[in-house]
Amino acid sequence: MTLDNLPGRPHVAYKDGELFAEQIPLRELARQYGTPLFVYSEAAVLGALAAYQRGLAGRSAKICYSVKANPALGVIRLLAAAGCDFDIVSGGELERVIAAGVETARIIFSGVGKTRAEICRALEVGIACFNVESESELDVLNALAIASGKSAPVSIRVNPNVDPKTHPYISTGLKSSKFGIAHERALEAYRRAASMSGLRVIGIDCHIGSQITQEAPYMDAMDRMLDLVESIEATGTKIEHIDLGGGLGIDYNGDQPPQADILWSKLLAKLDARGYGDRKIMIEPGRSLVGNAGLCITEVLYLKPGDQKNFCIVDAAMNDLPRPALYQAYHAIVPLRPRADAPTRWEIVGPVCESGDWIGHDRDLSVQSGDLLAVLSAGAYCMSMASNYNSRGRAAEVLVSGSNARLIRERETITDQLRAERLVLDGHP
Ligand code: LLP
Repeated sequence: MTLDNLPGRPHVAYKDGELFAEQIPLRELARQYGTPLFVYSEAAVLGALAAYQRGLAGRSAKICYSVKANPALGVIRLLAAAGCDFDIVSGGELERVIAAGVETARIIFSGVGKTRAEICRALEVGIACFNVESESELDVLNALAIASGKSAPVSIRVNPNVDPKTHPYISTGLKSSKFGIAHERALEAYRRAASMSGLRVIGIDCHIGSQITQEAPYMDAMDRMLDLVESIEATGTKIEHIDLGGGLGIDYNGDQPPQADILWSKLLAKLDARGYGDRKIMIEPGRSLVGNAGLCITEVLYLKPGDQKNFCIVDAAMNDLPRPALYQAYHAIVPLRPRADAPTRWEIVGPVCESGDWIGHDRDLSVQSGDLLAVLSAGAYCMSMASNYNSRGRAAEVLVSGSNARLIRERETITDQLRAERLVLDGHP
């Protein structure tokens, strides 16, 4: 990657030696809001969404943004206004989508461990579909629906046993994973679901993994799903929608995932060829909508050159950007204002007291303390997985549109962190 060319991030670019997000110099945002700071480009989010919309144009299709990738209310609202529905995995995400002003009929609920309280709330507000992941969940959902006098719309998440060829922690469609109902058991599960008076079977779903960079696993998953639709419908249960989950990868480090529109035109061609072109299509993309629309600005605190390694200590850490520590993930790191002098090889690390607290290994950069860096591809699974480890407050978030920047989340203060805690004193109840 060269400094004037940041592939895959069309709305982040250098102009006159300064890094911009859309029309805004990132240095300005750092000065105004402090660091570490997450910045998201609206145009980049909408551009990524448009690729899916083109691929699915003319079909009955729902793009259900997977909220876990980036649950900021500002992001949910942006995607809702652009026509997205939403895929949630917890009661917390349900309340976020509601708080963003989205109608509950635009929400589907995935997840292996929905609690009874979460199911009751989702029944109460009336969501579009429960993506059920086990036979015991079918029993519980049925009982709770009957008790509340409702009929729960259901899709069963099937585990198609397809290898998505990605990191083991984010492969979910293999037989060995905890997700979904095994392909071989699916028919029986549908038979049971169809016989339950509190349930209304409407669809089938799968999600085979995340950061998928090949087309073949999707084509295989679609074939396996259609085989099942055929056998389920032979038992008299109509499958109105087919939900192929999310998982499409992004370019972190020269990765070349299929483009959403091209992938979907191929998947739809398969659907048509097999005679299921009339079914409603649902998808649950997360990372591919927001991942490359975001970056994190961080300040270089100290430089610590050494015999074996040179450490560049920045003010963002594994609590803000957990993906390198968790998955050995690569995020490109670039200066906001490149220096002309020769680069040095650095370990880019945060202040957290763990050797696992690294952001980038072996990065060639010309830096001084006080410089600002941008950690790229940080729009997905960064703030959503951020923690308070080392009692660090979570970063602020800004949404940029053209030359307009809006704060969508304030920096977390120590008061925010201490709010729920009680100081228990000896001798006091
Ligand atoms: N649907 C379901 C049921 C999911 O479990 C997921 C992600 C998605 C959709 C969205 O997948 P996406 O389009 O974002 O790949 N923290 C990891 C990724 C975990 C993905 C979990 N499930 C990471 O940072 O790489």
